[in-house]
Amino acid sequence: MTDNELIQQAIEASKKAYAPYSNFHVGAAVLTSSGKVFQGCNVENSSYGLCNCAERTALFSAVAAGEREFKKLFVYVDREEFTSPCGACRQVMIELAPDMEVYLVNNKKQTKKTTSRELMPWAFSAEDLA
Ligand code: THU
Repeated sequence: MTDNELIQQAIEASKKAYAPYSNFHVGAAVLTSSGKVFQGCNVENSSYGLCNCAERTALFSAVAAGEREFKKLFVYVDREEFTSPCGACRQVMIELAPDMEVYLVNNKKQTKKTTSRELMPWAFSAEDLA
């Protein structure tokens, strides 16, 4: 699975977004260590606090399918600016995929590469509960 194919998967996922309130359509595609790809889109709700971001949809969907190791996550929004993941998604990334590469993708198919650790330094984690 190439980066270009993963970008296409994230673009495809953004078209499935359920975002009638924000009209902000986000798509994500996560590549697992076993080579599978899971898509995610944002899913909104009239009770706004229940909105779920594309990144978490993709990661949760992969976990629900039995996956536990993640290599790369691509996040696409149809804009020229790169869209940066929200705090809730960063917390989920650091929990499930601390070593994952994260690629933000704009509508020119340009990418900005970062990582879960870079996005969420000094995170609250299982170690804090020990
Ligand atoms: N959203 C995402 O899905 N991912 C992001 O990285 C940023 C925000 C969604 C949440 C909400 O449905 C809409 O975009 C506007 O915040």
